[in-house]
Amino acid sequence: MPAPTNVLERLKIAGQEHLVRFWDELGEAEQAALAAQIASIDVAALPRLVEEYVHRKPAFELPRDVEPAPYYPASGRGWDRARFRAAGEGMLRAGQVAAFTVAGGQGSRLGFDGPKGCYPAGAVTGRTLFQFFAEGLLAAGRKYGRPVPWYVMTSPQNHAATLEYFEGNRWLGLDREQVMFFPQGVMPTLDMASGRVLLAGKGEVATNPDGHGGSIRALHESGALADMQRRGVRQISYFQVDNPTVRVVDPVFLGLHAGAADSSGEMSSKMVPKIAPEERVGMFCRAGGRVQVIEYSDLPMELQRQRLADGSLRFLAGSIAVHAMSVEFVRRLATDPAFSLPYHRADKKVPHVDPEGLRVDPDGPNGVKLERFVFDALPLCGSSIVLETDRVEEFAPIKNARGPDSPESSAGLQTRRAARWLLAAGAFVPMRGPDDPDCTIELSPLTASEPDDLRGRRLAPIGPGARVVV
Ligand code: UTP
Repeated sequence: MPAPTNVLERLKIAGQEHLVRFWDELGEAEQAALAAQIASIDVAALPRLVEEYVHRKPAFELPRDVEPAPYYPASGRGWDRARFRAAGEGMLRAGQVAAFTVAGGQGSRLGFDGPKGCYPAGAVTGRTLFQFFAEGLLAAGRKYGRPVPWYVMTSPQNHAATLEYFEGNRWLGLDREQVMFFPQGVMPTLDMASGRVLLAGKGEVATNPDGHGGSIRALHESGALADMQRRGVRQISYFQVDNPTVRVVDPVFLGLHAGAADSSGEMSSKMVPKIAPEERVGMFCRAGGRVQVIEYSDLPMELQRQRLADGSLRFLAGSIAVHAMSVEFVRRLATDPAFSLPYHRADKKVPHVDPEGLRVDPDGPNGVKLERFVFDALPLCGSSIVLETDRVEEFAPIKNARGPDSPESSAGLQTRRAARWLLAAGAFVPMRGPDDPDCTIELSPLTASEPDDLRGRRLAPIGPGARVVV
């Protein structure tokens, strides 16, 4: 039996009728699953997307008035850190803050088999990324006397495995009611040469999660936003799944975001100073009076190399993908029918089934993934602020299997941070040189989420070359 006419007609109009090429070979259940998958795709939008993103690559137009975004310096110079910390602590004590982890990515660069949050990131024990966050939230709950609700965005691909991990590990010590999971949306993955949607199998469309920018709509559509409102949550502490040293809820940042005179309290960001002009991170810029992130590849190199009189980079503020967002801001965007974030194209190796029905495992990129990025919501704010932070203190991401941003570099950063905190608290830590510990340290967020948590604690000296858990 051929594919139902209504399905076929929809596909034909968009030039995607090959998706039902193997219909006759499928069992009834497989046919129903394929029809449902096709129904969930906005097929009518595909011709425009293919034209815009596959046949052509959208050219980035650099705003003429682009300049570095201003930021609140980590030194605290010119602003009252203590006042904003107190405000943020008040928000936490009043239960107005939720943590939000975007964990729907495919983690293909790391090549880990399973949800990335289950990756053993701890420098010594292999504490998982999810464990780091759970312990950070437990610690915050104890410190501020209110449990912090935690929302985890998964993808259809890793949702079940993520839930299984939490269930199998007793919710990592958190209350079952404290943790919410919801899957994000997907986009069909396109063939780079033809723009046709790839088939993952004879009865399955190849899809990819629609980017962390998909979180804005997913938060609303999943009911997470409504749940937050029910709980009295007003602000969301947003962070990625790949950074074990992230401050899951940072009172200073939250207080600044919600209370600074130049912040509309809608969406704010943290940055670290770029190490070198060539470092591949998005940069906080301002144009037309609005803060935005411009990708490394889109900002001309001559601008990235510009220096100020003191020798520092003029475009200094690299994004670490940590944001604070108000529930109201996300609700406003997600319920606006005209709201849409732009797509970004990524070329990837995508295994698929070819027109003859044979499995293809390509050697090079053959597929186009379209994703939305959450930072594209920044210019939609009334006024957005940026807070500088220290890389060693808060940014030890695990993205690649080796080299920069790998488990090894992350372990090094985790150790450096722990050593700084322990030294400041008066402990003995063997050092090869300044900021260069001669040991490996894994610090549990339950022991300390910030340096002051170690004050007054009895801390055992660490031996040279030791591997210790604190
Ligand atoms: P990355 O940009 O590192 O992408 O995501 P990725 O898919 O995890 O990894 P690669 O590129 O395949 O190696 C940054 C953060 O955004 C989340 C990721 O889980 C990570 O926390 N993310 C990314 C989503 O939640 N959904 C997406 O669709 C993409």
